[in-house]
Amino acid sequence: MLAHILYQLSRIFGDGPLTSQDCQRIIDCCSSLSFSNQMRVWTRLICLQPILKAINQYVPTVPGRIIDLGSGYGVLSCLLASSRKQEILGIEVSLPRISIAQQITKGLPNLNFQHGDIANVSVEPSSTILLIDVLCLFPNETQQHILSTCANKLVDNGTLILKDNTTIPKWKFHYANLEERIKLFLGIYSTPTLKRPNYLSPDTWRNLVIKSNLKIRAEFFVNSLAPYPGIIYICQKS
Ligand SMILES: C[S@@+](CC[C@H](N)C(=O)[O-])C[C@H]1O[C@@H](n2cnc3c(N)ncnc32)[C@H](O)[C@@H]1O
Repeated sequence: MLAHILYQLSRIFGDGPLTSQDCQRIIDCCSSLSFSNQMRVWTRLICLQPILKAINQYVPTVPGRIIDLGSGYGVLSCLLASSRKQEILGIEVSLPRISIAQQITKGLPNLNFQHGDIANVSVEPSSTILLIDVLCLFPNETQQHILSTCANKLVDNGTLILKDNTTIPKWKFHYANLEERIKLFLGIYSTPTLKRPNYLSPDTWRNLVIKSNLKIRAEFFVNSLAPYPGIIYICQKS
């Protein structure tokens, strides 16, 4: 029943491959957590449809390493590790989030989490790098630094997926901006951050990507009823 509800809610966030069975699996994996932590995991799970869709479409399942920078509760990494054989590494600054991620992903031999600050961490050469809803937490120079570091670490023909929020449509921007400002004010990421999210216009995201030695293979807005102005860039080394 809960799996079905989460699945139906996930469809508000856009089209994607997540099924009711996937939701049930994540519910089972997090059943030993406190109720509030289970809710955190469920809340993240329902946002992932469009991200999983982009990954399925643009990241081949050939052997390689996927790095998930700012991996949070590890829900995305968990779904990827259970459907793919690739080695997956999540890097996350918040120890409480890593602890939740480790608990919900026990028994997945191809998935590990590492504590680290993605603004300074050294990343192994990788075939896929994910930056999902994390770059907006940094000022422009740091965003550029992270993207350039990632570009250097992508293997030839590797793919970087950047998903974040943008500034249009305006009503979604204002809602998402307010929600994130409250989260940042409450200090939910266990690390010093900006006071407001650094959501960029599509042109500014595009320029930042290009200046970081990446080329854009595809770019699309997240089409959904949810009040978040998501944008996804599929990037390769230029
Ligand atoms: C909005 S969450 C997205 C989590 C995950 N990417 C997902 O899609 O479920 C942003 C994450 O980035 C993490 N984060 C923030 N600053 C970071 C840093 N400097 N280094 C590593 N992780 C960071 C936060 O703790 C949080 O878990």
